[in-house]
Parts: sequence; C-alpha cells; structure tokens
Amino acid sequence: MRENIMAITGPTSGIGRETALALANQFDRIVLLVRNLNKGEVLKQEIETKLPVKIDVIHCDLSELSSIESAANKMKEKYDSIDCLILNAGIVSLTKQETKDGFEMMMGTNYIGHFYLTHLLLPLVLDSETKQVVVVSSNGYKFAPLKAPYFKRRKFNPVTNYGQSKLGTLYLMQTLYDSYHEEGLKTTAVHPGAVSTNLGKTPKNERFGNLVYKVLTPYFLTAEEGSFSTVMAVKFPEKYNGKYMHNGKILKVQKHGNDIDARTSLMTATLDVLNLTHL
Ligand SMILES: NC(=O)c1ccc[n+]([C@@H]2O[C@H](COP(=O)([O-])OP(=O)(O)OC[C@H]3O[C@@H](n4cnc5c(N)ncnc54)[C@H](OP(=O)(O)O)[C@@H]3O)[C@@H](O)[C@H]2O)c1
Repeated sequence: MRENIMAITGPTSGIGRETALALANQFDRIVLLVRNLNKGEVLKQEIETKLPVKIDVIHCDLSELSSIESAANKMKEKYDSIDCLILNAGIVSLTKQETKDGFEMMMGTNYIGHFYLTHLLLPLVLDSETKQVVVVSSNGYKFAPLKAPYFKRRKFNPVTNYGQSKLGTLYLMQTLYDSYHEEGLKTTAVHPGAVSTNLGKTPKNERFGNLVYKVLTPYFLTAEEGSFSTVMAVKFPEKYNGKYMHNGKILKVQKHGNDIDARTSLMTATLDVLNLTHL
C-alpha cells in the first residue's frame, strides 16, 4: 500500500507549525518544506518523538525559483504521490524588497513561489489517493484588487502589496478548482483569522512587529487556534472543495475576489513570467 503523504510550506513557525503538529497523526509521512533547515530538523525531532509518523525535511525557499525547482525535483525522486499539499508559508514585508528573480517580495514569495511549487508538484498530487491542495490565504485580499503590472511595483504599500499577494493565492485556488476538479482534485482556500505569530517580524522591523503583537495579542488567536481552518480543510476535502473558508464556515468572496477577467489576466501573466503553458 502507498504511504499517505502530506507536504507543507512554512511549518517552522506560527500557523504552519501547529498545522503540522495537529495533522501528524493523520498521515504516514509529512514533508516539511522549509527555508531554514535547522528549524526544520528541530521540528522533525519534536514530532517524531511524539508520534509514529515519518518526517522529511526539504529545503525550499519560496522567494527563489531555483530553490523551488530543486525541492520539487527531490520530491519527485523520493515520492510517487503527495496526498495533501498545504501552501501555508507567507511573509509580510514593511519595506520594498525584491526576490532574487526580481519580483516584489510578497507577491514573489506568497503567490508566485506557491504557484510554481504547485505547478511542479501537481502531477504527484493528482497521482495520489486524496488529491488535495489547501491554500492559506487571508481576508487581507479584501483591501487589494489586482491589476497589471503584477510583479514589479513602482509604488509600495505593505498592506496593499500583502493583500494582492493573498488575492493571488485565492485566484490560484479557484483556478486549480476550475482546471482540475473533474480529475478529482479537492482544493480549498482558508482565512486563518488574526493570529499572533511571527508574521511581519523580519529582522528589519522586529521591534515594531513585537510592539504590535504585544498591544494586540489579547485580541488575536493563538497559533494553535489559527491552524483550525487549515486542519478542517484537510479533514473535510469534499465539504470545502472550491471554497474560501474560515473556522469551518464557507465565506462569501467579495466581488473582486470572484472577478474572472482579473483572475484570468493574472494567471496568463504568471504563466508568461514563469515560461509555462499551464498550471
Ligand atoms: N498571522 C495572521 O494573522 C494571518 C492572517 C491571515 C493569513 N495568514 C497567513 O498564514 C500563513 C502563515 O503565517 P503565520 O502567521 O504563521 O506567520 P509566521 O509565524 O511568520 O510563519 C511563516 C512561515 O513561513 C515561512 N516562510 C517565510 N518566508 C519563506 C520563504 N521565502 N520560503 C519558505 N518559507 C518561508 C517561515 O519560515 P521561518 O520559520 O524560516 O521564518 C514560517 O515557517 C501565511 O500565509 C500568512 O499570510 C496569517
């Protein structure tokens, strides 16, 4: 019998870490896709001492296309199928930055990185028993309709750019659903809530980030609570198939989040920039 395998990006902190811990007893093997191998190894040991699941740690920096490619190649060598792929990693950058490949950092990491990883791993997912992709998006998408140019921005606004990257991930889920649900793919996007994590605490803005979290923590969910939506999506693939969900409740997506022309335009531009013919 084939192993039941889950792969997750961004499991070394916050919501992703709690998601990996909560789902560890549901799978035979969990693949931790991490940008920091040391943190990945610490988590591997922690999970393996608690539960009889096998853990693999693979380096995957979503802000670098070559790193994503090499992670996907390793996975294709090691596994015949991936039952559940969770696109969880994310960053908030308060300053204007670019990825190595020249994309605005949040769009490049949160959206393009996950798009490319999904493209490369989709054959493994479609070859599995469960065939599931869960996207951790955000209600931040509400602040930010998308229009070209998508990947390089003259003006920078952390809230708008973050929201646009998360709208991109919502469009990614919708495109996956439209293109592959007839092949049995189950896909869901979730909003985890406002959660106290390390999001936004980059070395450059750590003091500001800590202050914000200190003031707002009483109003935020814990990371464990924040993982609930992802865990629900994984446990009930049919129920939330093609939906945007929070805490088990299907959310109505705002008009621009359902704009098929805007979505098609972003998808076409993404395929172009990645030199791909299809997702
Ligand atoms: N917190 C919230 O209130 C909230 C609300 C809505 C949506 N979300 C979404 O929830 C997801 C998880 O965020 P979180 O709040 O748990 O934040 P977090 O504590 O900062 O965790 C983010 C994870 O992403 C990883 N990551 C960051 N940049 C990466 C890169 N270039 N390549 C690979 N991995 C990378 C981090 O790795 P390191 O451990 O190495 O830093 C970490 O494991 C994100 O998609 C975020 O947009 C969060």
